[in-house]
Amino acid sequence: MTKRLLLGQTLGFSGNPFTDDWADAVAFDSGGGVLIAGDRIAEVGHAAALRAAHPDAEVTDYGDALISAGFVDAHMHYPQTAMIASWGKQLIDWLNTYTFPEEARFADKAYADRIAGRTLDLALAHGTTTLASFCTIHHESVDAFFEAAAQRNMAVIAGKTCMDRNAPDNLRDTAQSAYDDSKALLEKWHGVGRASYAITPRFSPTSTPDQLAALGALWAEYPDCLMQTHLSEQLPEIAWMRDLFPQARDYLDTYEAFGLLGPNGLYGHAIHLDPREIDRLAEVGAAVVHCPTSNLFIGSGLFDAAGLAQRGIATGLATDTGGGSSFSMLRTMATAYEVAQLRGVALHPSQLIWLATEGSAAALKMRRQIGHLGVGAMADITVLDLASTPAIAQRAERAMDIWDALFPTIMMGDDRAIRDVWIAGRRAG
Ligand code: GUN
Ligand code: ZN
Repeated sequence: MTKRLLLGQTLGFSGNPFTDDWADAVAFDSGGGVLIAGDRIAEVGHAAALRAAHPDAEVTDYGDALISAGFVDAHMHYPQTAMIASWGKQLIDWLNTYTFPEEARFADKAYADRIAGRTLDLALAHGTTTLASFCTIHHESVDAFFEAAAQRNMAVIAGKTCMDRNAPDNLRDTAQSAYDDSKALLEKWHGVGRASYAITPRFSPTSTPDQLAALGALWAEYPDCLMQTHLSEQLPEIAWMRDLFPQARDYLDTYEAFGLLGPNGLYGHAIHLDPREIDRLAEVGAAVVHCPTSNLFIGSGLFDAAGLAQRGIATGLATDTGGGSSFSMLRTMATAYEVAQLRGVALHPSQLIWLATEGSAAALKMRRQIGHLGVGAMADITVLDLASTPAIAQRAERAMDIWDALFPTIMMGDDRAIRDVWIAGRRAG
């Protein structure tokens, strides 16, 4: 088995910096090393000791660059890659004006192949090693994404996006076809290589109660699958949901009533939550996903990262491409910091990196398998240059400790800060 030794500053986590004291939760070594055996991390320790113990390992010395677990983007829409940064609309108008016309193109497998490959290459260039993506209603879009991920050996989660109302004719399925197509795709892809299938109703306004019930029944047949959707993103959306589901107690209830609330549920945005919704998410152990650049770009609101973490609700971090305005999880962390500041909370750099790695992995129920710089995890690794631009370098130069050195890269970094990326023990690209 090939042994590789990566040397540099290493940053991992033994705990959760939201619920533990962050200083107890981090594992940082300024002269560290990561030993990779095959596709997994075999050891994390001091550089000198690892070098001595493994003289046969192939060494890559990154100097004072920071070796981290690869970033995990826990909610995005790969079909929206080509229309990211589309101007001037809020959620419902943005969907109708920009998103749906673009998603209609994914009936064409060749187009889906092109955008899937482009998205994954952009993700890798930005240090993102796993993505959980919505596809379109077309099975071609799902095949394209899983095939492109398999070519790159990336762990991805994805599913056919289901919609049977309030969408253009060419983007609507039915309750029965959503069930049948999702089931066929799930059986084709779930657990194949590094692929996981997620049952994916877009959001309750674009599904009839019949479709939600059909997907709830499918989830009951495959409870180990994730179910991903959107929840309480924007106030006009919530008002619309109330018109469409007059019986529902709240937005979460539109899922709960149809079997779409459970521990493997992944609810994107989750900004404007009622106390009952927070209680139920906590009770069932469901996860939410913070999409900060999207929440500002589409004008949705300010997610309560610290408050939900205090309630023990697993929280991932995500770009929400193309509602989000960046492919970069660094930029996403920066915006999470800014959103929290607007709520009067200063998130620590350790909390930001944790959200983008361990937090997202836990939300995806892949804790300690990905997003983790520790023994036994898959060797999906991102190496950060902490002086990637003159502006960042001059600030990092006067840093007093690793957090002061890392924070300028979080706030001002982009793909230029990505020194290297490893996927399952091999250098990406
Ligand atoms: N709600 C339903 N669909 C979408 C989408 O594609 N993007 C975002 N941001 N919110 C949604
Ligand atoms: Zn989304």
